[in-house]
Amino acid sequence: MPHTNRHIEAAWAYHDATKHSHASIRANPHFLDFANQPLPFKIYPTLEPSRLPGELRQTGVAALSAIAECVPLETSSAPDLRAVAQLLYLSAGITRQRKYPGGEIYFRAAACTGALYEVELYLVCGDLADLQAGVYHFAPAEFGLRRLRAGDYRSVLVEATGGVPAIAHAPLIIVCTCTYWRNAWKYQARTYRHFGWDNGTLLANLLAVASALGLPAKVVCGFVDATVNRLLDVDSQREVAFSLVALGHGSDPPPLSPEIFPLGLETVPLSRHEVDYPLMHEMHAASSLQSAEEVATWRGRSPLTILLPAAGPLAQLQPLSDAEMPRDPIEQVILRRGSSRKFARTPISMAQLSTMLYRTTRGVPADFLDPMGSQLNQMYLIVHAVEGLDPGAYVFRRDSGTVECLKRGNFRDQVGYLGLEQQLPADAAVDFFFLADLAPIFERLGNRGYRAVELEAGILGGKLYLAAYAQGLGATGLTFYDDDVTRFFSPHAEGKSAIFLVAVGNSAKQKP
Ligand SMILES: Cc1cc2nc3c(=O)[nH]c(=O)nc-3n(C[C@H](O)[C@H](O)[C@H](O)COP(=O)(O)O)c2cc1C
Repeated sequence: MPHTNRHIEAAWAYHDATKHSHASIRANPHFLDFANQPLPFKIYPTLEPSRLPGELRQTGVAALSAIAECVPLETSSAPDLRAVAQLLYLSAGITRQRKYPGGEIYFRAAACTGALYEVELYLVCGDLADLQAGVYHFAPAEFGLRRLRAGDYRSVLVEATGGVPAIAHAPLIIVCTCTYWRNAWKYQARTYRHFGWDNGTLLANLLAVASALGLPAKVVCGFVDATVNRLLDVDSQREVAFSLVALGHGSDPPPLSPEIFPLGLETVPLSRHEVDYPLMHEMHAASSLQSAEEVATWRGRSPLTILLPAAGPLAQLQPLSDAEMPRDPIEQVILRRGSSRKFARTPISMAQLSTMLYRTTRGVPADFLDPMGSQLNQMYLIVHAVEGLDPGAYVFRRDSGTVECLKRGNFRDQVGYLGLEQQLPADAAVDFFFLADLAPIFERLGNRGYRAVELEAGILGGKLYLAAYAQGLGATGLTFYDDDVTRFFSPHAEGKSAIFLVAVGNSAKQKP
C-alpha cells in the first residue's frame, strides 16, 4: 500500500485493527512482563540538566475560566523562565509519587493511560528572559532542562509547518513527542490511539496554564515529520513528534537557523528488549506529511460536523455564570486532579453538568480546527444521576446549548459493559462519549485526520477532567468496546466511530 496521507485506507485499517471487542479482549494472550517494564523517563546520561525554578507562581485565575478562554493570538508576550517552568510542571511535571511492591509510580500533572507517560516535551526557543535560545529536553525526574542544541532553531519549525503565523511569531514552541514502547508495553498496537489521548490531556493543561499566564497558544498538528524529528534528533523508529504548541507572540520572525547536525547523543534503553508493532509504524508513515506545500494545503477548513435536526426532547443547559462558578485557581485544580478510582452513585447538579459541557467546548486553538470553534468529535452522554435530567442517552447540541434525549432509561449496567467491563463508568453520574464521523475527516485531512481527531478528543477530555475537579467532582478517562458504543447510540450515531470516553461523578473514598 502506498504510504501517503491521501491513501486513507491506512487510517481505516489501523482503526479497525485496533478496535476492542468482547471477543478481541478474550482472544488476546498479552500479559504484562514486569521484568521488562520500560523506564518512565527518557534519560540522556551524558548531559547535565539545569534545574528549573521550583517555586510555583500563583496566577489566581479560575480554572473554569482558564480552560474556556484563549488569549488572542497576536497579544504581544513572551514567557520568562519561571513561566516556562510553570507550563512544564503543570502539564508534564511529577505531582505525586506512590510506592508499590515492585517500585514507585511517578504520577504526572495530566492523566495518561496506564500512568506510562509516553509523551516527552522539548522546547525550541529564541532568547527568553533567563533562558538562552536553544533546543531543550524537559527532564521531569530532575525538574530540569537538558540543552540539546544551542542557538535559535525556531525557523526550522516555521519551515516545517509551512509558515503557520503562530509558529513564525512564537518566542517559544513546545514539541510533544510520543515514545511507542513506553506505552505499547501494556497496550500493544492500540498505543497509537493513546498518543492522541495522552498528548491531548497534557495539552488541555498546557493550554489552560498558557491562558492563565496571558500567553497566546496554538496547537499545530500539521508539520513535515522528518524535519521536526531531525531537529530533536529522535530515533523515529522509537519516538516521533506528534504535536507542536506555539506560545507567546513577538513581532520579529526568527533568524535563519544554524545547520542541523545529528547529535548522536546516548540515551538509556527503556527496557532489555522492545517489542515492535508494525501496524503503528504503518499508521505513522501513512499520516506523515512530506513537504511544506503539503502541510499548507493540509491545515484549516475543518470538515463540518453536521447534526441531524433534533428528533428527541431537548433539555436546556444551565451553565453557571462567571460570578456563580467556583473560582478555584487553575494551578490548585491541576494539583488536585487525579483519576477517580471509585465513584459514589450520588447525583451531580444540572448546573455542574451544564458548566462542564459549556466550558470544555468553547474552542481549541488548533491548526486543524478552522474556524476556531470547529470540532471534529461529537459528545454523547449517558446520564445516570443528574438532578433535573432523566437518566438516559443524550447527544450534546452545542449550537443551541441543549442536550437531546435519544432514549430514556437506566443504563448503568450497559455502560459498565461498554467501558470494557469496568465498574467506574457504571458508578459515574454521567459518562461522556466522544464519537466522530471519520469519513469526512479522512476525506479532508487524510490519514493525519486520525491523529487530529484523537488529539482533539484528548484535549476535550483533559478539559473535562479539569472542569470536573474545579467543581469538586471526580473524573476518569476510560477505554471501551468500539462498535458496541456506536451501536448503543444508534441510529443517531450510525456510521460514527467511538474515539474516547470520560466518566464523571462524585468520587467515593476507597476502602484501604
Ligand atoms: C485516555 C485515558 C484512558 C484511560 N483509561 C482508563 C481505564 O480504562 N481504566 C482505568 O481504570 N483508568 C483509565 N485511565 C486513568 C489512568 O489510569 C490514569 O490517568 C493514570 O493512572 C494516571 O493517574 P492520574 O490520572 O490519577 O494522575 C485512563 C486515562 C486516560 C487519560
